[in-house]
Amino acid sequence: MRSDADERDPNARKSCLGVDRLLSRYMQERSPATRPSRQMTSLGRDTVDQLIEKIRTNGPYLSHQEKTLILQMLPMVSCGEESAVILFGMHAQNTTVDLPARRIAEDICVEERQHVLLLRALEEVCSDCRLANRTPDAAEFFRQNRGSDAATRFRVIVVIDSLTCIVLSALLQGKLGEIDVVSSVLRRIRADEANHVRLCRSYLGRERAEPTPLFEQVKSDFSRHVGLFSEALISARVNPEALAARIQSWRT
Ligand SMILES: [Fe+2]
Ligand SMILES: [Fe+2]
Repeated sequence: MRSDADERDPNARKSCLGVDRLLSRYMQERSPATRPSRQMTSLGRDTVDQLIEKIRTNGPYLSHQEKTLILQMLPMVSCGEESAVILFGMHAQNTTVDLPARRIAEDICVEERQHVLLLRALEEVCSDCRLANRTPDAAEFFRQNRGSDAATRFRVIVVIDSLTCIVLSALLQGKLGEIDVVSSVLRRIRADEANHVRLCRSYLGRERAEPTPLFEQVKSDFSRHVGLFSEALISARVNPEALAARIQSWRT
């Protein structure tokens, strides 16, 4: 995904992921159209293609201010989605990981790819808008290696995706929630992230949920990541301190 910041700083994109090739590999492996998610059909929600169509149809009617808000928010969310595609794509193919974990990873990977596509579509319709300030390097949080075994990964995902739901809820209560097309995308991602938490918890079973130093570390790193976007949050009418407090008070 390219942004205005990337154009001004060619290294921004590289430093954001450094794994574009990997991402494109996992993005292409199985398109959402060939494998629709179960929740999508069972809940009768718009398909990803319908949502993308909605974005493209409504995009031209977005104001400059709305596009600016969207572009300011995107790096906070999109790096996590792209990292998730790679992480779960690798897990799904790792034969040293047990089969139930691989299946969960595959299901999650499909939805993470859909999130990337949705966010890219949003970015595309804002491409005529330029941000005045450089966006923060949002990927550091997601670059960190937090253990390679499935249980540890899933425990980390319980934390990250739960906290992502908190952030998305805060965004939805602010100005971005008032933009119909953005609201549809954020709600969709939030519902999926909540499902990822459920899937990971179902895998972890009784082992799960005890707060550990790892939980606290991930929570504090996540909070720092969100803190990079204080300015964007304020523009989107989200109180960064209140959001940080909600993140800090979250328990598994
Ligand atoms: Fe996601
Ligand atoms: Fe997720």
